[in-house]
Amino acid sequence: MKNFISFADAGDYRALLQQAFEIKANPYGYKHIGQNKTIGLIFFNPSLRTRLSSVKAAYNLGAQAWVLNAGADSWTLEMADGAVMNGSTQEHIKDAIAVMSEYCDVLGVRTFPTLQDREADYSEDVLNKILQYATVPVISLESATLHPLQSFADLITVAETKQKERVKVVLTWAPHVRPLPQCVPNSFCDWFSEIDWIDFVITHPEGYELDPRFTKGARIEYDQRRALEGADYVQAKNWSSYQDYGQILTQDADWMLTPMHMAYTDKAKFMHCLPVRRNVEVSDAVLDGPGSLIIQEAGNRTISMQTVLHELLK
Ligand code: CP
Repeated sequence: MKNFISFADAGDYRALLQQAFEIKANPYGYKHIGQNKTIGLIFFNPSLRTRLSSVKAAYNLGAQAWVLNAGADSWTLEMADGAVMNGSTQEHIKDAIAVMSEYCDVLGVRTFPTLQDREADYSEDVLNKILQYATVPVISLESATLHPLQSFADLITVAETKQKERVKVVLTWAPHVRPLPQCVPNSFCDWFSEIDWIDFVITHPEGYELDPRFTKGARIEYDQRRALEGADYVQAKNWSSYQDYGQILTQDADWMLTPMHMAYTDKAKFMHCLPVRRNVEVSDAVLDGPGSLIIQEAGNRTISMQTVLHELLK
């Protein structure tokens, strides 16, 4: 592993999963791996889970982690190549990332899409600039299009709880009051469509089709009830339209996950990456019910990050 940006960087996912289980069983048993190492975490956007689990993962490995809120803790960064910097930006990204590479052994970066310009967002301009200028490995802490640490944590959660050899996993769109990025569902598809013991189904209203580069031919079922039938796991998430880019096409409350929806499944476990808008995306009864894995799933964010750091530092 050189960087961790998408499922393709996971290599042999079974081996990575096995390493994750070993780390989870013995979280402080690998402190030699991170001794005298420093992890730099750059956030262009807010975070609770990613920020704290990344710091915890570094600590568990014996490394130290620094968090930099770009533009708030640092100088305002210029992204454009060849810019005449006579405006408000104070430091070019190429200098900032090259300098951080002098101080850190691994860099993590969180960027977000604008949801205004699909071509610009899907070009992953900021992430690619960081990859270009970093001289150390880079971990995506969520980019404009993908959230690989979340998807890896989701896979760990399913793998450690499944009761059968093969399981049906459903990704369902859920309503929301604001337009949200497609990163989490894109990434979920990027990972879960590749797992040979998972029957993967995506369900959403028409018009919410995701980028086919990430859905990779997975079954799309527009009838949510039919999609949920027989499911072992349900992951809910809102996303804005990819086709009508960044737009909210519907806020149909019938898509909110309730115990009635979960009753269509085969006593499915419920998952959500969090944060969640309670009683808009998912009802309290599902989030707080006996089948909810949301806290275990968030806990596994430490394991996914620790496993990736282990791979990059070992
Ligand atoms: N799921 C997730 O990435 O949460 P944060 O945005 O709080 O990091």
